[in-house]
Amino acid sequence: MKVRSIRGFHDILPEDIKRWHFIEEKARTVFELYGYSEIRIPVMEFTEVFARSIGATTDIVEKEMYTFTDRDGSSLTLRPEGTAGVVRAYIENSMYAKSPVTKLYYGGMMFRHERPQKGRYRGFYQIGAELFGPEDPSSDAELITMLWQFFEDTSLSKHLKLELSSLGDEKCRPRYKEELVDFFTPYRDDLCDDCRRRLNTNPLRILDCKEKGCREIAQNAPVMIENLCFECCEHFEDVKERLDSVGVSFVVNPRIVRGLDYYTRTVFEVTTEELGAQNAVAAGGRYDGLVEELGGPATPAVGFAIGMERLILLQRQAVPEGFGKEVQVFIAHLGDEACKKAFEIAFELRSRGITTEIDYGSRSLKSQLKRADKSGAVYTFILGEDELDRGIIKLRNMAESTEEEISIQDALSLTIDK
Ligand code: HAM
Repeated sequence: MKVRSIRGFHDILPEDIKRWHFIEEKARTVFELYGYSEIRIPVMEFTEVFARSIGATTDIVEKEMYTFTDRDGSSLTLRPEGTAGVVRAYIENSMYAKSPVTKLYYGGMMFRHERPQKGRYRGFYQIGAELFGPEDPSSDAELITMLWQFFEDTSLSKHLKLELSSLGDEKCRPRYKEELVDFFTPYRDDLCDDCRRRLNTNPLRILDCKEKGCREIAQNAPVMIENLCFECCEHFEDVKERLDSVGVSFVVNPRIVRGLDYYTRTVFEVTTEELGAQNAVAAGGRYDGLVEELGGPATPAVGFAIGMERLILLQRQAVPEGFGKEVQVFIAHLGDEACKKAFEIAFELRSRGITTEIDYGSRSLKSQLKRADKSGAVYTFILGEDELDRGIIKLRNMAESTEEEISIQDALSLTIDK
C-alpha cells in the first residue's frame, strides 16, 4: 500500500519555499525593529496549559485538541496555538522578574482537529508575537502597528482589512453575559444542542457558533462594545486614537468574538475578501488575566498570531511571480575530462557564493541545455573536450540568447549583478 499524509496535514513544497522564507524574514525584521526577541517553545504541553488558557468550553478545547496519554499517565496535548505555551514559558522562566516589559515572537506548527478545507488545516503554521507588562493602550496600538507594518512590507496590506473591537474586562463582561442570557433564553428551543448548553456555561460562545439557526438569532444579540465600562471604553478610544495618529486604518467590528476565552478588552482580526470562507489571516488581542490564571504574577499582555498558510495563499494570488528558485550559473559539459573540470568549476563558483547547477552523467548537449533553460540560470557554461583543450568555455547569456568564449580563468572569477 502506498503511504500517504494524514488528512488536514500538508507538505510545503520547494516551489513555495521562497515565499515562506520571504514572509518569515520580513516578520523577523519588523518584529526585531520593535524590540521583540524570538522564543522557541515545545510543540507539546500538559493538557491543562491549554484547557485553562483557551477555556474549557471553547471549540478548540472541547473538540479540536490532539490529546493523548503519555506512558506515565499524564495527559499531553499538541499545541493548538502558541500563546498558552509562551505564557507558560514566561512564568516558568521568571521573565517577569527580569524586566517590566517582555516582547517575544515565535513561529511553528499548530494542531487543531478541524474539518479541513481551503485555508483550514489540522496541522498549520503560525507566526505570533506577545507583549507582556504594559497595560497602556499605546502598547495595544504599538503591537497592531507592528503587525500592519509587516503587512505593508510584504506588499499585502492593500488586500487586507483590520477589524477592531473590545471584549471588556472582568468588571463589565459579567453584566454583558447576563444580557446575553436574557436575550437568548426566549430562543432556547431554536438553538443547537451545543448552544443550549452554552447558555449556562459560556453564553459568549453562542456568538461564535457556526450553525445557521444560531447565527441568525445571534445577529440581533446585544454587542459588547455598547456595554463597556468607563475604563474599557476609554482604553478602546485611546487604542483607536493611537492607530489613527500613525495612519493605520481599521474598521470597528462589534461582532468579533474570537474562539479563545482568554481575551480582555482589545481584540482584532485581519481579514481578506480574496480567500473565501477562511478569511482571517491574523488575529489577536489583549489578555490581562492569563498570566495570573496560569500561576504567575498579575501581568497584562497583548499579542497576535498570523496564519501562514492563508497568508501564502493570498500572496500567491496577489503576487504570482518572483518567488522561483534562483540559479545563476548552469554548467553543461560533454566528455569525461570536461565532466571532471566542470565539477571543479562548480565547486569554485559555489565557494564564491554563486548559485551553480551542474548536469550529472553524460547526457546530450541538447537535453542539458533544456535543463539549463528550465533552471532559470542567468548564464550557462558549455564545456566540451575542444573548449577544454583551448582553455576556454562558452558562456551563454540566457536572457539575451548570446554566446561568447571566455577563458576558464575568467569564468572562475565571473561576477553576477543581482
Ligand atoms: P486564532 O484566531 O485561533 O488565534 O488563530 C490565529 C490565526 O491562525 C487565524 O487568524 C488563522 O489565520 C490561523 N489559523 C487558525 N486556525 C487555522 C487552521 N485550522 N488552519 C489554518 N490556519 C489557521 C490564536 O491562535 C491566538 N493564539 C492569537 C493570539 C496571540 N492572541 C493573543 N496572542
